[in-house]
Amino acid sequence: MCLSWVFGLPHGKEKGTFLALDLGGTNLRVCKITLHGDEPIDGAKHSLEQEKYKLPQEIKKSSANDLWNHVADALQKFMKDKGLDRKYDKDNPMSLGFTFSYPVTQHRIDHGILQRWTKGFDISGVEGKDVAAQLREKMEERGLPIKLIALANDTVGAMIASAYNDPETIIGSIFGTGCNAAYMQCLRRDPPTIPKLELTEKQWSIIDEATKMAINCEYGAFDNNHRVLPLTKYDEEVDRESPRPRQQTFEKLSAGLYLGEIFRLVLLELTEKGFIFNNQDTRTLKQEYSIDTSFLSQIEGDNTPGLKATRNEFKEVLGIEPTKPEIELSRRLAELIAWRGARLCACGVAALCLNNDIRSGHVAVDGSVAHRHPMFKKRWATALGAILDMDERDGEEGAPIQMTSAEDGSGVGVAVIAAMTMERRQTGNTIGLN
Ligand code: BGC
Repeated sequence: MCLSWVFGLPHGKEKGTFLALDLGGTNLRVCKITLHGDEPIDGAKHSLEQEKYKLPQEIKKSSANDLWNHVADALQKFMKDKGLDRKYDKDNPMSLGFTFSYPVTQHRIDHGILQRWTKGFDISGVEGKDVAAQLREKMEERGLPIKLIALANDTVGAMIASAYNDPETIIGSIFGTGCNAAYMQCLRRDPPTIPKLELTEKQWSIIDEATKMAINCEYGAFDNNHRVLPLTKYDEEVDRESPRPRQQTFEKLSAGLYLGEIFRLVLLELTEKGFIFNNQDTRTLKQEYSIDTSFLSQIEGDNTPGLKATRNEFKEVLGIEPTKPEIELSRRLAELIAWRGARLCACGVAALCLNNDIRSGHVAVDGSVAHRHPMFKKRWATALGAILDMDERDGEEGAPIQMTSAEDGSGVGVAVIAAMTMERRQTGNTIGLN
């Protein structure tokens, strides 16, 4: 559970132009975002210009120096290409919001010490360090007229971006390469609702009953001691072979990075025991992570006669020509793995609702699994409905707690957070600001 220093949800009138940087799993995205607040343009509350820069695979296993040079170069290119380097200068820098979707300990909003890399990243020299300071140093080296105002997790961004448009938003959640959620926690001193929060007497004096802070749950790390969740031998293997064993246990059972790999390990075992794919070339099947989670989405979404599309996918991705029973077995397996993932994701959100007595509202969801897996939303909603004993509407339209598609959290969300932070400074609540 990480403090975010984001106080309250946005009122929706936040305005201004911001730079947003999103360091995701596959891309690096830089955006220029203008928030229009209560003066929408053509019905839109924001406008956005963005560029995506590929994050080379090698970067994920490189060094802090390589990573931040790459990021600062992308920022420099963006500023130049959009003419922003002429509009802003050292005395009037452009405000930056940085979405960093990994667990960080934040003592202030413009700072964050990386606890550990997740999602297969393994870049040396960053864990235990302040990522904002590392980026700032590279921006300074290049003389970029940029001021980092806020660092935020993607779940906090998703919640804030969605609340900017939809005040019924209660939770921001990501079901993508990784999984996680954020919610708003009331700040009470005795008994403490956030035991980690250490404030001075003066700071407590400006906090009232209604004050809330966004909490990044980092529940992907739930049960790292392997005491609660039933793990299969395939889960144990995924964990053992990952760059950070015994970390992100919950995430390794439910998130997009791992579902395809679990599927591969089961098929591989059946192959090695001689049950399936006899006399086929299974070299690709033997390669780690050769099956992406999109493979599972494809199988479950296949409506072609005789599952022809799945047959083609097997040929294309794995070089295997499966028999009818092998295809049927694979489909059932894909279903089981994805069902488990969706149910676990529902547990995460249900736990937040139960623990905080949340009985209604919108769970703003983003991520490749949520958006691209054909059955995920339905299964998630069914499971949430069952756990929270909602009713036959099962978390779907009309149910008290429902899933909505999150607004762009890593872009708009972090821009709104930067705007809220600057506004907060003016109102005198400088808790967690520099
Ligand atoms: C990270 C979280 C992030 C989630 C979704 C996890 O691996 O630890 O910080 O919110 O992935 O991107």
